Amino acid sequence: MKAVIYGVTGQDGSYLAELLLSKGYKVIGVTRRTSTDNTSRIKHFLNRSKFQLVQGDITDYSSVFRIITENAPDEVYNLAAQSHVWTSFNQPMLTWDITGKGVLNVLEVIRNMPQDSRPKVYQASSSEMFGDQYNLDNNREKYQDEKTTFAPQSPYAIAKLAGHSAVSLYRRSYDLFACSGILFNHESERRGEFFVTRKITKWIADFYNWCEFQGLDQNPRHFTYDEDFIHSRRESFPKLKLGNLDAKRDWGHAEDYVRAMWMMLQHDTPNDYVIATGKTYSVKEFLIQAFKCINIVEYENYVKIDQSLFRPSEVPILRGLSNKAKRIIGWEPEISFESLVKRMLDHDIQSSLRHKRNEKQAG
Ligand code: NAP
Ligand code: GDD
Repeated sequence: MKAVIYGVTGQDGSYLAELLLSKGYKVIGVTRRTSTDNTSRIKHFLNRSKFQLVQGDITDYSSVFRIITENAPDEVYNLAAQSHVWTSFNQPMLTWDITGKGVLNVLEVIRNMPQDSRPKVYQASSSEMFGDQYNLDNNREKYQDEKTTFAPQSPYAIAKLAGHSAVSLYRRSYDLFACSGILFNHESERRGEFFVTRKITKWIADFYNWCEFQGLDQNPRHFTYDEDFIHSRRESFPKLKLGNLDAKRDWGHAEDYVRAMWMMLQHDTPNDYVIATGKTYSVKEFLIQAFKCINIVEYENYVKIDQSLFRPSEVPILRGLSNKAKRIIGWEPEISFESLVKRMLDHDIQSSLRHKRNEKQAG
């Protein structure tokens, strides 16, 4: 089997490539041209004989055409996106070109191929498309599933909904084997550093090691606090700046979620599926859980609320029900919220420690 992955250098792309390689696939990963190296997440399999990295950009139809027709894959996974919601408010056109129009480039190339050589296609849709909509379950708890109305609240979500609608249209109109996974938030040790979970775990890890290097534990009595900084007797450390702590998200681990992508394409018929854990936590609850891992119970002294990080329009609560995915493709998540937070924090503490040691040796 052969697969093309758009977005291979991202969080999900790197886990998906690992999964497919472990199943014996030949994997062609597409990376856009950048002025600095963007392969940190995929370094460990770059030299595998069954992996090939090719240059291409999803916004460039000619390169999409060339990569897909010349490689003749069995499956194409489109994970490429400008995926940061806050950024999409400031760069809506770019977000549209990559996250929305890019999907059409892939679908058009495949539609124009002879029927018997068309690859199956997976589209990375998003729970962000639900916006402020939800249904109520028997306990009057809010949830979203495949039947919930879409009401995008950001340029990112608008672009994702356009891509999602195009997938469904091309499946109905041209008989493409095309699936959309409506994935709720999923994080990991490889999560981009500007998404809230990783921003929190990276900050806590750096703070933890800042204390360790001064021979201090994290007991609040060692420190004084002002609006922007935490002070020990010798040094100062900038506070963690965050926006809206009340938003609620359904957070899973990316390893579980890339498994779902593959499972969708192995089923006899193409379909769209919600992929989520069914549990929801506020950003504040994530923060508390992460600080608890370094024995800090009250986070308030360490966090500064920054109004510039609030969004013009917010998605207040996401909690997905994946009953359809469980029933039809047999998918269920395996990694809990608590172990997700712990895995991210343990990883960040180790890498921050390595970084600090290297700095010390160099200096
Ligand atoms: P990510 O880490 O931001 O990865 C996005 C990938 O897209 C990166 O490899 C990026 O390349 C690539 N890309 C950006 N612009 C491109 C272009 N013009 N041409 C080709 N590639 C381009 O995102 P992720 O968290 O792995 O998410 C994967 C996909 O799932 C995205 O489409 C995202 O919107 C969607 N999604 C994510 C979640 C989530 O919670 N993670 C939930 C629902 C849906 P560079 O490395 O060069 O930047
Ligand atoms: N990024 C960020 N940075 N978010 C913050 C911050 C901050 O400093 N402070 C509070 N938040 C809040 C945001 O307002 C949002 O309500 C929540 O934390 C989560 O923000 P992100 O981690 O940026 O994720 P997202 O939910 O907006 O989008 C992610 O999930 C979508 C699926 O629901 C991304 O991965 C999207 O690509 C994905 O489609």
